[in-house]
Amino acid sequence: MKIIIINGPNLNLLGKREPSIYGNQSFEQFFESLQKQFGSAIELSYFQSNSEGAIIDKIHEVGFSHDGIILNGGAYSHTSIAIADAIAAVETPVVEVHISNVYARETFRQHSYFSASCKGVIVGLGLQGYTLAILSFILGHRAQGGNIQV
Ligand code: DQA
Repeated sequence: MKIIIINGPNLNLLGKREPSIYGNQSFEQFFESLQKQFGSAIELSYFQSNSEGAIIDKIHEVGFSHDGIILNGGAYSHTSIAIADAIAAVETPVVEVHISNVYARETFRQHSYFSASCKGVIVGLGLQGYTLAILSFILGHRAQGGNIQV
């Protein structure tokens, strides 16, 4: 099973960026721990970009071959109809993740253009949200008769 995590703008600064909101761990460190946890059972990859077009291109690239996309679009979640259209255009199901509880923050963070086209949304559980998104794809696969052990 192939799953990709796509992170949008400013998420390359995790660990340094507003640690009281986003924590102290870099995504690279966290991704290593995900690889240790899931790497033998699934093919897990990671892509980050600060640019809207690059995120759209990546969704197009993986959206007909992968089994799952985990997308934290950062601030583009609240602004980008173009990324929302890309999510709707591809076959691969997308789980939207936000590290912080966007509903407890500024009003402009409380709407995502992506959510309606996503399979599900995980909000406010920190980096653990990515782990839960992976588990949701594995459980979905098992429910369809797959046999992935983690
Ligand atoms: C975020 C929430 C967004 O509002 C913000 O712009 C981000 C990160 C989150 O993971 O909590 O960059 O997507």
